[in-house]
Amino acid sequence: MAEPDQIVILTGAGISAESGIDTFRDTGGLWENHPIEQVATPEGFAKDPELVHRFYNLRRAALSKVKPNAAHLALGRLQHEFAGKLTLVTQNVDDLHERGGSSDVIHMHGELLSAFCSACDHHWQQLSDLSPSTPCPACQTRGGPRPDIVWFGEMPYQMRRLEAAVQACDLFVSIGTSGAVYPAAGFVHLAKTYGARTLELNLDPSQGSAVFDEARHGPATKLVPEWVASVLA
Ligand code: APR
Repeated sequence: MAEPDQIVILTGAGISAESGIDTFRDTGGLWENHPIEQVATPEGFAKDPELVHRFYNLRRAALSKVKPNAAHLALGRLQHEFAGKLTLVTQNVDDLHERGGSSDVIHMHGELLSAFCSACDHHWQQLSDLSPSTPCPACQTRGGPRPDIVWFGEMPYQMRRLEAAVQACDLFVSIGTSGAVYPAAGFVHLAKTYGARTLELNLDPSQGSAVFDEARHGPATKLVPEWVASVLA
């Protein structure tokens, strides 16, 4: 196949698994400790903001205890050395891609280290704990601040930019995602419709595995560096 000149990479929780961050649906995954409705929906936040803030405060604080793995570092290298156009979109809310050397990462499900105000929509970088009485740094509304996480039922970020990139790419690579959640799970179909080659790098076959032109199964820290080396060769 001719060298790709526009690559879109979609990552999910599996790329951070070997850094020690729980995935969502593997046995013992994150949701199993918390019902999704309670900690990842606007209704759950309205019902018990204290619990939801605590859930994200713990995950935000845990970030400082983990570090990027070989897969994150390989994608950082790819971005610096690949001559074509690379779009990296992640469903993850951790900062391991950035700490692994990637920039301009599209966090379609938001970020743990970001917050926004439900009253005035001001967004800011948030490193410390939030509580139901935290005032918004812009409009001072107490209880306005919430985690900048796209909860179920909310619109993922930068969808127009993402759809345009997926339609324009000639190679779509999905790494460490179960293909269980839309709209991300639909990107492979869109890429194929627009003529891209599609590759899955995942520990186990995802729900959409059969749709991909090629699927390689194994740990991201093995598969991703190997694939990046082949692209840059
Ligand atoms: N290397 C590669 N893949 C791995 C590894 C690993 N070491 N460990 C697990 N995986 C794969 C699993 O096989 C699984 O297919 O990562 C995938 C993780 O799937 P999920 O836990 O469903 O995570 P993800 O696909 O990112 O979930 C998507 O769902 O709950 C929402 O918003 C949340 O962004 C999340 C979205």
